[in-house]
Amino acid sequence: MKPIRVGLLGIGTVGGGTFVVLKRNQEEIIRRAGRGIVITMVADREVEKARKIVGEGVIVTSDAYEIVTSPDIDIVIELIGGYTVAKDLILKAIEHGKHVVTANKALLASHGTEIFAAAQKKGVMVAFEAAVAGGIPIIKALREGLTANRIEWIAGIINGTSNFILSEMRDKGLAFDTVLDQAQKLGYAEADPTFDIEGIDAAHKLTIMAAIAFGIPMQFDKVYTEGIAKLTREDIRYAEELGYRIKLLGITKRTPKGIELRVHPTLIPARRLIANVEGVMNAIVVKGDAVGATLYYGAGAGAEPTASSVVADLVDVTRMHTADPKHRVPHLAFQPDLLSNTPILKMDEVETSYYLRLRTQDRPGVLADITRILADLNISIDAMVQKEPGEGEDQVNIIMLTHLTIEKNINAAIVKIEELPVMTGKVTRIRLEELNSK
Ligand code: NDP
Ligand code: HSE
Repeated sequence: MKPIRVGLLGIGTVGGGTFVVLKRNQEEIIRRAGRGIVITMVADREVEKARKIVGEGVIVTSDAYEIVTSPDIDIVIELIGGYTVAKDLILKAIEHGKHVVTANKALLASHGTEIFAAAQKKGVMVAFEAAVAGGIPIIKALREGLTANRIEWIAGIINGTSNFILSEMRDKGLAFDTVLDQAQKLGYAEADPTFDIEGIDAAHKLTIMAAIAFGIPMQFDKVYTEGIAKLTREDIRYAEELGYRIKLLGITKRTPKGIELRVHPTLIPARRLIANVEGVMNAIVVKGDAVGATLYYGAGAGAEPTASSVVADLVDVTRMHTADPKHRVPHLAFQPDLLSNTPILKMDEVETSYYLRLRTQDRPGVLADITRILADLNISIDAMVQKEPGEGEDQVNIIMLTHLTIEKNINAAIVKIEELPVMTGKVTRIRLEELNSK
C-alpha cells in the first residue's frame, strides 16, 4: 500500500521532534500502521531553517495554506500554536477533507467545540494526544482504556514548565527567573510563558480532560486558575516540614452539586507518588469507580516526548481513516449528541482543606482571636505550628492546616483575620488535597 501523505505546519520544537521520530522509527511504524507515514510537505515561516531539518525530497513552503488545500495531502499536523492562524488552517484542512493532528491545547480548550463539530460534519478525525501532558498517552487512557468507568476525579501535574521551576527552586535554591529562562531554552515553555506560570496552560489541558472524562462541553472560561508566581520559598519549606509538597495541580471532580474545575498550587502529602514527580515530568491520577485510582507518569513537554504522542496519533488516524466515521471513537469519548449539561461548580462552593500562614505580633490572646473567627465560620483546625520569632523580632509566623471546609467560609475568615490589629501582613492561603485513592 502507498504511504499516507502528511503535511506538517510549523517545524519548531515539536514539529522538528516529530519529523525526526517519524523518520527514525519508520520501519517499526510501517509494521504497526500497515503502511508508511511520510511527511511530504512542510510549512514554516523560516523556509531555510525548515529545509535544513528536512533535507531534500520534501516540499518546503512558507505558505501553510498551500498544504491544507493540497490534493496530495491526507493528514495535516498543526504545530504552529496560537488561536488565530492555527484555527483558520485547521478549519480549512477539515473543509478540504483532511484529517488533523494537533498539539494545540489552547486552541482546543477555547474553540474545540466548533472544530470537532466541523470535523464530525465532514467525517474526518481531529487527534490531539499531544495536547495534554506531552508524551503521556492520557487521552487514549481516558477515552478508551477507562471507558468502563464512571470517572470520579482527576488530579494532575500537567504543566512541565511550572513543575520544573518549583523543583529547581526547591532543590537547587535557584531564582524563579533563572529557572524560567532554562525552561524556555529547553523548549518546554509556551510562546507566552505567562501561560505556564499563571496556570493557563494547565487550565487548557484540564478543560480537555474534564470534557473527555465527564462527557461535558469544553468550558475553559469556567476554570478557576491561580499560578505559581506568588509562591514563596518560605511556604515551600513550611509545607515540607509538615510533610507536604506544593505542586501546581489541575483538579476536576464530580460532586453532587456540580463539576469542579480548578488549577492552583496545592499541598499534597509527600508520601503520595504524585508528590515526588519532579522537573519537567507530568503525572495524572485518575479515579474511576471500577478501577480505583490509576497514575500516568512521563515527560510533559519537550521535542521527542511530545512527538511520541503526535506520531501515535498519526498511526491511529492511518489505521482508522478508511473506517466508517460512525465506528470511530468519538472525539470527546462520548457521543456528540449525548453530552451532559452538568453545571460547573463556582469556586466559592468548592470544598477542600487549606494551609494558612499568618504573620502576627507575638502577644497573648492572638491565637484565641484567630481560632474564634475560624470556629464561628465552622472551620476546624487539623494542625497548627507557631514558628519562633527571629532574633530581635516581635512578629511570628503561625501555620495552620484546616480540615475540609467550603471556600467561601475560608475567604470570609481571611477577611476577618486580616482586620485584627495584631496582624502584620496578609494571610497566605494555599489549598490542600489529601488525594486519597478511596
Ligand atoms: P515553536 O514555537 O517551537 O514552533 C512553532 C513553529 O511554527 C515555529 O517554527 C514557527 O516559526 C512556525 N510558525 C509560526 N507561524 C507560522 C505560520 N503562520 N506558518 C508556518 N509556520 C509558522 O512551538 P512548539 O513546537 O513548542 O509548540 C507547537 C505547539 O505544540 C503549540 O501549540 C504548543 O502549545 C504545543 N505543545 C508544545 C510542547 C512543547 O514541549 N514545546 C508540548 C506539547 C504541546 P517561527 O519560529 O519563525 O515563528
Ligand atoms: N508549556 C507546556 C508545559 C508544554 O510546560 O507543560 C507542554 O504542553
